[in-house]
Amino acid sequence: MIYCPNMHKNKKLLIAANWKMTPPTIQEARKKALLFKGIAKGYQRAAKAKASLQVLVCPPYPFISEIREIFRNSPALVGAQDVSEHDGGSKTGEVASTMLQSLGVSHVVVGHSERRSAGDTDEVIAIKLGQVIRTNTQVILCIGETVRDEEGEYLNAIKAQLKAGLARLSNADFSRVIIAYEPVWAIGRTDNVALSGHDLHQMVIYIRKMLRDLYNDSIATATKILYGGSVTPDNAEDIVWNGEVDGLLIGRASFEANTYEAICKNIALPTHSSMIMREAAMRKMKTIKNNKTKPSVDKSKEKVVKGMKRVKKGKAVRSAVSKKTKTR
Ligand code: PGA
Repeated sequence: MIYCPNMHKNKKLLIAANWKMTPPTIQEARKKALLFKGIAKGYQRAAKAKASLQVLVCPPYPFISEIREIFRNSPALVGAQDVSEHDGGSKTGEVASTMLQSLGVSHVVVGHSERRSAGDTDEVIAIKLGQVIRTNTQVILCIGETVRDEEGEYLNAIKAQLKAGLARLSNADFSRVIIAYEPVWAIGRTDNVALSGHDLHQMVIYIRKMLRDLYNDSIATATKILYGGSVTPDNAEDIVWNGEVDGLLIGRASFEANTYEAICKNIALPTHSSMIMREAAMRKMKTIKNNKTKPSVDKSKEKVVKGMKRVKKGKAVRSAVSKKTKTR
Protein backbone atom coordinates (compact mmCIF):
# COMPACT_ATOMS: atom_id res chain seq x y z
CA MET A 1 0.00 0.00 0.00
CA ILE A 2 1.23 3.50 -0.79
CA TYR A 3 2.31 5.37 2.32
CA CYS A 4 0.42 8.62 2.57
CA PRO A 5 0.72 10.65 5.80
CA ASN A 6 -2.63 12.33 5.24
CA MET A 7 -4.32 8.95 5.27
CA HIS A 8 -4.69 9.56 8.98
CA LYS A 9 -7.00 12.40 8.12
CA ASN A 10 -8.49 10.62 5.11
CA LYS A 11 -8.01 13.80 3.11
CA LYS A 12 -8.47 14.20 -0.61
CA LEU A 13 -5.90 16.61 -1.98
CA LEU A 14 -7.11 18.93 -4.72
CA ILE A 15 -4.40 19.41 -7.35
CA ALA A 16 -5.72 22.27 -9.47
CA ALA A 17 -4.05 23.09 -12.79
CA ASN A 18 -4.37 26.72 -13.82
CA TRP A 19 -3.58 26.57 -17.52
CA LYS A 20 -3.80 30.39 -17.69
CA MET A 21 -3.81 31.51 -21.36
CA THR A 22 -2.44 28.20 -22.71
CA PRO A 23 -2.36 26.18 -24.89
CA PRO A 24 -2.81 28.32 -28.01
CA THR A 25 -5.17 25.96 -29.92
CA ILE A 26 -8.07 23.60 -29.23
CA GLN A 27 -6.11 20.79 -30.89
CA GLU A 28 -3.35 21.10 -28.28
CA ALA A 29 -5.89 21.53 -25.49
CA ARG A 30 -7.56 18.25 -26.51
CA LYS A 31 -4.25 16.36 -26.46
CA LYS A 32 -3.33 17.82 -23.10
CA ALA A 33 -6.76 17.07 -21.64
CA LEU A 34 -6.43 13.41 -22.62
CA LEU A 35 -3.12 13.21 -20.73
CA PHE A 36 -4.66 14.83 -17.64
CA LYS A 37 -7.56 12.39 -17.85
CA GLY A 38 -5.03 9.55 -17.73
CA ILE A 39 -3.33 11.07 -14.69
CA ALA A 40 -6.69 11.45 -12.91
CA LYS A 41 -7.51 7.79 -13.58
CA GLY A 42 -4.12 6.72 -12.24
CA TYR A 43 -4.75 8.54 -8.99
CA GLN A 44 -8.26 7.21 -8.74
CA ARG A 45 -6.64 3.78 -8.41
CA ALA A 46 -4.23 5.27 -5.89
CA ALA A 47 -7.25 6.66 -4.05
CA LYS A 48 -8.14 3.07 -3.13
CA ALA A 49 -4.75 2.92 -1.42
CA LYS A 50 -5.68 6.18 0.36
CA ALA A 51 -3.20 8.39 -1.53
CA SER A 52 -6.07 10.38 -2.81
CA LEU A 53 -5.57 13.17 -5.36
CA GLN A 54 -8.35 15.03 -7.18
CA VAL A 55 -7.28 16.36 -10.59
CA LEU A 56 -8.87 19.69 -11.55
CA VAL A 57 -8.06 21.46 -14.83
CA CYS A 58 -8.92 25.15 -15.26
CA PRO A 59 -8.46 25.86 -18.98
CA PRO A 60 -9.26 29.08 -20.86
CA TYR A 61 -13.04 29.59 -21.35
CA PRO A 62 -13.21 28.48 -25.03
CA PHE A 63 -11.82 25.02 -24.19
CA ILE A 64 -14.04 24.26 -21.19
CA SER A 65 -16.88 22.62 -23.05
CA GLU A 66 -14.75 20.19 -25.04
CA ILE A 67 -12.52 19.31 -22.11
CA ARG A 68 -15.60 18.60 -20.02
CA GLU A 69 -16.67 16.11 -22.69
CA ILE A 70 -13.22 14.50 -22.71
CA PHE A 71 -13.37 14.18 -18.91
CA ARG A 72 -16.86 12.67 -18.91
CA ASN A 73 -16.96 9.39 -16.94
CA SER A 74 -13.51 10.09 -15.53
CA PRO A 75 -12.52 11.45 -12.11
CA ALA A 76 -10.95 14.58 -13.68
CA LEU A 77 -12.83 17.82 -13.07
CA VAL A 78 -12.95 20.98 -15.12
CA GLY A 79 -12.95 24.45 -13.62
CA ALA A 80 -12.85 28.08 -14.77
CA GLN A 81 -10.19 30.70 -14.13
CA ASP A 82 -12.61 33.56 -13.54
CA VAL A 83 -16.27 34.59 -13.85
CA SER A 84 -18.27 37.75 -14.38
CA GLU A 85 -19.67 39.66 -11.44
CA HIS A 86 -22.85 40.07 -13.56
CA ASP A 87 -25.47 37.41 -14.08
CA GLY A 88 -26.29 38.15 -17.72
CA GLY A 89 -27.50 40.82 -20.14
CA SER A 90 -25.60 43.42 -22.16
CA LYS A 91 -22.11 42.74 -20.85
CA THR A 92 -19.91 42.22 -23.89
CA GLY A 93 -17.11 39.73 -23.35
CA GLU A 94 -18.33 38.53 -19.96
CA VAL A 95 -19.10 34.95 -18.87
CA ALA A 96 -21.78 34.36 -16.25
CA SER A 97 -21.59 31.74 -13.52
CA THR A 98 -24.82 30.13 -14.78
CA MET A 99 -23.10 29.54 -18.15
CA LEU A 100 -20.18 27.82 -16.46
CA GLN A 101 -22.54 25.75 -14.36
CA SER A 102 -24.43 24.63 -17.48
CA LEU A 103 -21.13 23.36 -18.94
CA GLY A 104 -20.47 21.21 -15.88
CA VAL A 105 -17.76 23.36 -14.32
CA SER A 106 -17.10 22.16 -10.77
CA HIS A 107 -14.83 24.97 -9.47
CA VAL A 108 -14.31 28.63 -10.33
CA VAL A 109 -11.15 30.52 -9.39
CA VAL A 110 -11.89 34.05 -8.16
CA GLY A 111 -9.50 36.81 -7.16
CA HIS A 112 -6.39 35.41 -8.81
CA SER A 113 -3.61 38.00 -8.53
CA GLU A 114 -3.52 38.28 -12.33
CA ARG A 115 -7.23 39.26 -12.28
CA ARG A 116 -6.67 41.56 -9.31
CA SER A 117 -3.92 43.36 -11.21
CA ALA A 118 -6.28 43.60 -14.22
CA GLY A 119 -8.72 45.56 -12.02
CA ASP A 120 -10.68 43.21 -9.77
CA THR A 121 -11.17 44.94 -6.44
CA ASP A 122 -12.04 43.17 -3.18
CA GLU A 123 -15.64 44.36 -3.67
CA VAL A 124 -15.85 42.89 -7.20
CA ILE A 125 -14.29 39.66 -5.93
CA ALA A 126 -16.90 39.41 -3.17
CA ILE A 127 -19.68 39.81 -5.76
CA LYS A 128 -18.09 37.17 -8.02
CA LEU A 129 -17.90 34.80 -5.07
CA GLY A 130 -21.60 35.30 -4.47
CA GLN A 131 -22.36 34.55 -8.14
CA VAL A 132 -20.46 31.26 -8.02
CA ILE A 133 -22.03 30.18 -4.73
CA ARG A 134 -25.50 30.93 -6.12
CA THR A 135 -24.90 28.39 -8.87
CA ASN A 136 -23.93 25.65 -6.41
CA THR A 137 -20.37 25.61 -7.70
CA GLN A 138 -17.18 25.47 -5.63
CA VAL A 139 -15.25 28.71 -5.50
CA ILE A 140 -11.48 28.97 -5.06
CA LEU A 141 -10.76 32.37 -3.52
CA CYS A 142 -7.16 33.45 -4.10
CA ILE A 143 -5.51 35.62 -1.49
CA GLY A 144 -1.88 36.62 -1.09
CA GLU A 145 0.34 39.54 -0.25
CA THR A 146 2.33 41.30 -2.96
CA VAL A 147 5.36 41.96 -0.75
CA ARG A 148 6.63 40.92 2.66
CA ASP A 149 7.75 43.32 5.33
CA GLU A 150 9.57 42.46 8.51
CA GLU A 151 6.94 44.17 10.68
CA GLY A 152 4.32 41.67 9.51
CA GLU A 153 2.05 44.25 7.86
CA TYR A 154 1.41 41.74 5.09
CA LEU A 155 -0.54 39.64 7.59
CA ASN A 156 -3.04 42.47 7.91
CA ALA A 157 -3.27 42.59 4.12
CA ILE A 158 -4.14 38.87 4.07
CA LYS A 159 -6.74 39.39 6.78
CA ALA A 160 -8.29 42.31 4.86
CA GLN A 161 -8.48 40.29 1.61
CA LEU A 162 -10.08 37.38 3.43
CA LYS A 163 -12.59 39.56 5.23
CA ALA A 164 -13.56 41.58 2.14
CA GLY A 165 -13.68 38.60 -0.22
CA LEU A 166 -15.94 36.56 2.05
CA ALA A 167 -18.08 39.52 3.16
CA ARG A 168 -21.22 38.53 1.26
CA LEU A 169 -21.32 34.88 2.28
CA SER A 170 -23.38 33.21 4.96
CA ASN A 171 -21.86 30.52 7.20
CA ALA A 172 -23.75 27.88 5.21
CA ASP A 173 -21.99 28.97 1.99
CA PHE A 174 -18.61 27.91 3.35
CA SER A 175 -19.06 24.29 2.30
CA ARG A 176 -18.39 25.59 -1.23
CA VAL A 177 -15.43 27.83 -0.41
CA ILE A 178 -11.77 26.90 -0.86
CA ILE A 179 -9.01 29.36 -0.05
CA ALA A 180 -5.90 29.43 -2.24
CA TYR A 181 -3.00 31.13 -0.52
CA GLU A 182 -0.80 32.47 -3.30
CA PRO A 183 1.87 34.96 -2.24
CA VAL A 184 2.07 37.19 -5.30
CA TRP A 185 5.83 37.53 -4.99
CA ALA A 186 6.13 33.75 -5.45
CA ILE A 187 3.91 33.49 -8.55
CA GLY A 188 5.53 32.97 -11.92
CA ARG A 189 9.09 33.03 -10.60
CA THR A 190 11.90 31.22 -12.35
CA ASP A 191 14.25 31.21 -9.37
CA ASN A 192 12.47 28.67 -7.15
CA VAL A 193 11.06 31.16 -4.68
CA ALA A 194 8.14 29.06 -3.47
CA LEU A 195 7.48 29.13 0.26
CA SER A 196 9.03 26.26 2.22
CA GLY A 197 6.60 23.81 3.76
CA HIS A 198 7.54 24.98 7.24
CA ASP A 199 6.90 28.64 6.48
CA LEU A 200 3.72 27.81 4.62
CA HIS A 201 2.45 25.91 7.65
CA GLN A 202 2.74 29.10 9.72
CA MET A 203 0.59 30.89 7.14
CA VAL A 204 -1.97 28.09 7.15
CA ILE A 205 -2.22 28.37 10.95
CA TYR A 206 -2.61 32.13 10.58
CA ILE A 207 -5.36 31.86 7.94
CA ARG A 208 -7.26 29.32 10.05
CA LYS A 209 -6.92 31.62 13.04
CA MET A 210 -8.37 34.46 10.96
CA LEU A 211 -11.28 32.24 9.88
CA ARG A 212 -11.90 31.36 13.51
CA ASP A 213 -11.88 35.01 14.52
CA LEU A 214 -14.13 36.05 11.62
CA TYR A 215 -16.48 33.04 11.69
CA ASN A 216 -16.22 29.99 13.93
CA ASP A 217 -14.20 26.92 14.82
CA SER A 218 -15.82 24.54 12.39
CA ILE A 219 -15.33 26.91 9.42
CA ALA A 220 -11.72 27.42 10.52
CA THR A 221 -10.99 23.70 10.54
CA ALA A 222 -13.17 22.52 7.66
CA THR A 223 -12.26 25.11 5.01
CA LYS A 224 -9.76 23.75 2.52
CA ILE A 225 -6.59 25.73 1.96
CA LEU A 226 -4.48 25.34 -1.19
CA TYR A 227 -1.06 26.76 -1.93
CA GLY A 228 -0.03 28.35 -5.24
CA GLY A 229 3.13 30.09 -6.44
CA SER A 230 6.05 28.43 -8.24
CA VAL A 231 5.14 24.88 -7.31
CA THR A 232 7.44 22.39 -9.04
CA PRO A 233 8.02 18.63 -8.81
CA ASP A 234 10.98 19.42 -6.54
CA ASN A 235 9.13 21.44 -3.91
CA ALA A 236 5.58 20.00 -4.09
CA GLU A 237 6.16 17.25 -1.54
CA ASP A 238 7.54 19.61 1.08
CA ILE A 239 4.83 22.18 0.40
CA VAL A 240 1.95 19.71 0.72
CA TRP A 241 3.07 17.51 3.59
CA ASN A 242 5.01 19.98 5.72
CA GLY A 243 2.80 22.93 4.76
CA GLU A 244 -0.35 21.05 5.87
CA VAL A 245 -2.36 22.29 2.90
CA ASP A 246 -5.31 20.55 1.25
CA GLY A 247 -3.88 20.82 -2.23
CA LEU A 248 -2.20 23.03 -4.79
CA LEU A 249 -3.03 25.61 -7.43
CA ILE A 250 -0.37 25.09 -10.09
CA GLY A 251 0.34 27.51 -12.92
CA ARG A 252 3.30 26.99 -15.22
CA ALA A 253 4.13 23.53 -13.94
CA SER A 254 0.73 22.43 -15.24
CA PHE A 255 1.36 23.64 -18.78
CA GLU A 256 3.08 20.30 -19.49
CA ALA A 257 1.19 17.17 -18.44
CA ASN A 258 4.37 15.32 -17.54
CA THR A 259 5.50 18.05 -15.10
CA TYR A 260 2.05 18.05 -13.50
CA GLU A 261 2.21 14.27 -13.28
CA ALA A 262 5.64 14.44 -11.62
CA ILE A 263 4.14 16.73 -8.98
CA CYS A 264 1.29 14.28 -8.35
CA LYS A 265 3.74 11.40 -8.10
CA ASN A 266 5.99 13.22 -5.65
CA ILE A 267 3.02 14.08 -3.44
CA ALA A 268 1.49 10.62 -3.49
CA LEU A 269 4.77 8.79 -2.92
CA PRO A 270 6.63 10.80 -0.26
CA THR A 271 10.33 10.18 0.24
CA HIS A 272 11.51 8.37 3.33
CA SER A 273 13.02 11.54 4.87
CA SER A 274 9.77 13.41 4.46
CA MET A 275 7.84 10.56 6.10
CA ILE A 276 10.11 10.79 9.14
CA MET A 277 9.72 14.59 9.31
CA ARG A 278 6.00 14.31 8.93
CA GLU A 279 5.70 11.72 11.68
CA ALA A 280 7.83 13.90 13.98
CA ALA A 281 5.52 16.85 13.20
CA MET A 282 2.48 14.73 14.00
CA ARG A 283 3.99 13.62 17.32
CA LYS A 284 4.66 17.28 18.14
CA MET A 285 1.08 18.23 17.27
CA LYS A 286 -0.20 15.43 19.51
CA THR A 287 1.89 16.71 22.42
CA ILE A 288 0.58 20.24 21.89
CA LYS A 289 -2.98 18.89 21.81
CA ASN A 290 -2.46 16.86 24.97
CA ASN A 291 -1.07 19.91 26.73
CA LYS A 292 -4.15 21.75 25.54
CA THR A 293 -2.07 24.63 24.23
CA LYS A 294 -3.40 26.60 21.30
CA PRO A 295 -1.30 29.03 19.26
CA SER A 296 -2.37 32.58 19.98
CA VAL A 297 -2.70 35.16 17.18
CA ASP A 298 0.29 37.09 18.37
CA LYS A 299 2.41 33.97 18.66
CA SER A 300 1.51 32.69 15.21
CA LYS A 301 2.06 36.16 13.79
CA GLU A 302 5.41 36.37 15.51
CA LYS A 303 6.42 32.95 14.14
CA VAL A 304 5.39 33.86 10.60
CA VAL A 305 7.32 37.11 10.70
CA LYS A 306 10.36 35.27 12.01
CA GLY A 307 10.10 32.65 9.30
CA MET A 308 9.64 35.23 6.63
CA LYS A 309 12.78 37.12 7.49
CA ARG A 310 14.46 34.17 5.84
CA VAL A 311 12.68 34.73 2.51
CA LYS A 312 13.56 38.40 2.53
CA LYS A 313 14.83 39.82 -0.75
CA GLY A 314 13.41 36.99 -2.80
CA LYS A 315 15.72 34.30 -1.53
CA ALA A 316 14.18 30.87 -1.44
CA VAL A 317 14.12 29.06 1.82
CA ARG A 318 14.03 25.42 0.93
CA SER A 319 13.91 22.79 3.60
CA ALA A 320 16.42 19.96 3.59
CA VAL A 321 13.67 17.65 2.43
CA SER A 322 12.72 19.83 -0.49
CA LYS A 323 16.34 20.03 -1.56
CA LYS A 324 16.74 16.28 -1.45
CA THR A 325 13.46 15.61 -3.22
CA LYS A 326 13.99 14.86 -6.88
CA THR A 327 11.51 14.09 -9.60
CA ARG A 328 11.07 10.42 -9.57
P1 PGA B 1 2.81 29.57 -10.97
O1 PGA B 1 1.38 30.24 -10.93
O2 PGA B 1 2.66 28.16 -10.51
O3 PGA B 1 3.21 29.66 -12.42
O4 PGA B 1 3.70 30.38 -10.10
C1 PGA B 1 0.47 29.95 -9.90
C2 PGA B 1 -0.81 30.67 -10.19
O5 PGA B 1 -0.77 31.71 -10.88
O6 PGA B 1 -1.89 30.24 -9.76
